[in-house]
Amino acid sequence: MEVVPLATATDVARLAADTIEALVRRRAAAGTPAVLGLATGSTPLATYAELLARRGAGTAPSYEGVRTFNLDEYVGLPPGHEQSYLATIRRELTDGLAIPPERVHGPDPTPDTLPLAGERYEQEIRDAGGIDLQVLGIGTDGHIGFNEPGSSLASLTRIKTLTARTRRDNARFFGAEDDPGGVPHHVLTQGIATILRAGHLLLLATGEAKAAAVAAAVEGAVTASCPASALQFHPHASVILDEGAASRLTRLDYYREVWAEKPDWQGL
Ligand code: F6R
Repeated sequence: MEVVPLATATDVARLAADTIEALVRRRAAAGTPAVLGLATGSTPLATYAELLARRGAGTAPSYEGVRTFNLDEYVGLPPGHEQSYLATIRRELTDGLAIPPERVHGPDPTPDTLPLAGERYEQEIRDAGGIDLQVLGIGTDGHIGFNEPGSSLASLTRIKTLTARTRRDNARFFGAEDDPGGVPHHVLTQGIATILRAGHLLLLATGEAKAAAVAAAVEGAVTASCPASALQFHPHASVILDEGAASRLTRLDYYREVWAEKPDWQGL
């Protein structure tokens, strides 16, 4: 695992955008367009805005042929709800990059087919050749995707129940800072094993509220009680942090030194 402590959330967004664009260019040059795994929530929004700004400035790569797979989706929202993660990712990123809706995938929360939704999504990812790069955020309780503490480290895409804490954390998206009443209880989420199959994991975290979860994930024991700690098993995981999110790491000076001394050719 490579931990990259940067100064600000803007630095995190720029480095994440650089990494995504480098992959898109590399895969286009190889003739096999990139497959991106995308997180929603607030953390990656600055990265997505950066990608769109670069497209606006004419410096972005072409996203022709690129496919995207969302990490998760709420179950129980009315179809087309603006807080559905498929609607969110189209609004915040893929429409602006001119990635057509048929190449923007998410777990399907349609009630009638819910029991099959997990296996279908796994098959869609396999059919696309697997995810090259998976963007991840982290919950204050250490979740990745919506794999709450206690999720099997071997889990695949399936239905899960959100903890009260995550529903409270996400109430702000549903127009109520302290009242999780409007936040669905159920979600479909890529499993931890699904996430670990991606070629490169890019976990982004900003702000002090994430510091304890980041420290547990990066320097604690691997345990289902902190799902993000499963990243320790991945051969290519990058954790990009601003000052607040990195503030409880005990090996911070070492991570800074590694980043400062990193050879230019190596990249993330
Ligand atoms: C979202 C997701 C979640 C979020 C996490 C952090 O697709 O999978 O794991 O990344 O809840 O959310 P924010 O970034 O809003 O703090």
